[in-house]
Amino acid sequence: MFIRILGSSAGGGFPQWNCNCRNCAAARAGKPGFRARTQSSLGVSRDGANWILLNASPDLGAQLVQNPALAARIEGASRNSPIKAVVLTNGDVDHVAGLLTLREAQAFSIYASRRVLDVLAGNALFDVLAANLVGREILTIDAPTKIIGAGVDLGLVVEAFAVEGKIALYLEDAAAGPNFGTQIGDTLGLRISDPATGEAFFYIPGCAKIDEKLAARLAGAKLVFFDGTLWHDDEMIEQGLLGKTGARMGHVNMSGPEGSIASFAPLGVERKVYIHINNSNPVLNEFSPERKAAEAAGWEIGYDGMELSL
Ligand code: MLT
Ligand code: MN
Ligand code: ZN
Repeated sequence: MFIRILGSSAGGGFPQWNCNCRNCAAARAGKPGFRARTQSSLGVSRDGANWILLNASPDLGAQLVQNPALAARIEGASRNSPIKAVVLTNGDVDHVAGLLTLREAQAFSIYASRRVLDVLAGNALFDVLAANLVGREILTIDAPTKIIGAGVDLGLVVEAFAVEGKIALYLEDAAAGPNFGTQIGDTLGLRISDPATGEAFFYIPGCAKIDEKLAARLAGAKLVFFDGTLWHDDEMIEQGLLGKTGARMGHVNMSGPEGSIASFAPLGVERKVYIHINNSNPVLNEFSPERKAAEAAGWEIGYDGMELSL
């Protein structure tokens, strides 16, 4: 199984177009230790020829230029794509907007929760993905889903499970109370496995809390890609960027007693990689004490183009 990080940053990317925080300013100035990043997506393939996108980033076009393995093949037909399926973990803009890049009459399948499929169906913009070519398949929670797209069996199985999180920002219902109308299953984690080899990994780009159930699920895993949005809850407020905490945005922090570094410490996960890293996060500075602390705790800071195989 081949895995490639197409985009390692959170919504907005790094540097973010309108952001002049210390990280974004340093990245824009080309300072050493600050590597630019595109928005949240992974590619996975069993055979290296046919690929599944895990979330479709607004930066997908640029990501395909950077990752020719996923772009149209020179030896292929006049229109062709190695991308046979897209699996969505939620309805956030940074995870669905890239679907619009996949227009132009190409067959593939979209796998998502019923609620996210309804959001796509309710927005006429996504009708550019013609129903006769682009299949919409429900990703059932806590059941294995064999991924098939454009008539190709991708040879991989996805098991989606609900994690703590929040409904997409643009769907928030202020009148619905403190959870803004969030339902169980609005934020999914994925376990992607290859039945032929038994190898598996987890992909969890958004998660508000590492509860006992999630901890038990991840214990002993070989590889986990995990939500690295913020270092600490108030960092966007402190830097004058946005008046919201990580908790309000539906993301657990890296630091602190309930943060991901502490929560993963006893789980015996072999390889832990942060993805969906927000531009405000000090770990994006390769020379920062926070970066050193995360690495000392056994975490890798995912980057665009990072390749792994299982
Ligand atoms: C998030 O991960 O919290 C969202 O992508 C935020 C957003 O929609 O900008
Ligand atoms: Mn996001
Ligand atoms: Zn910034």
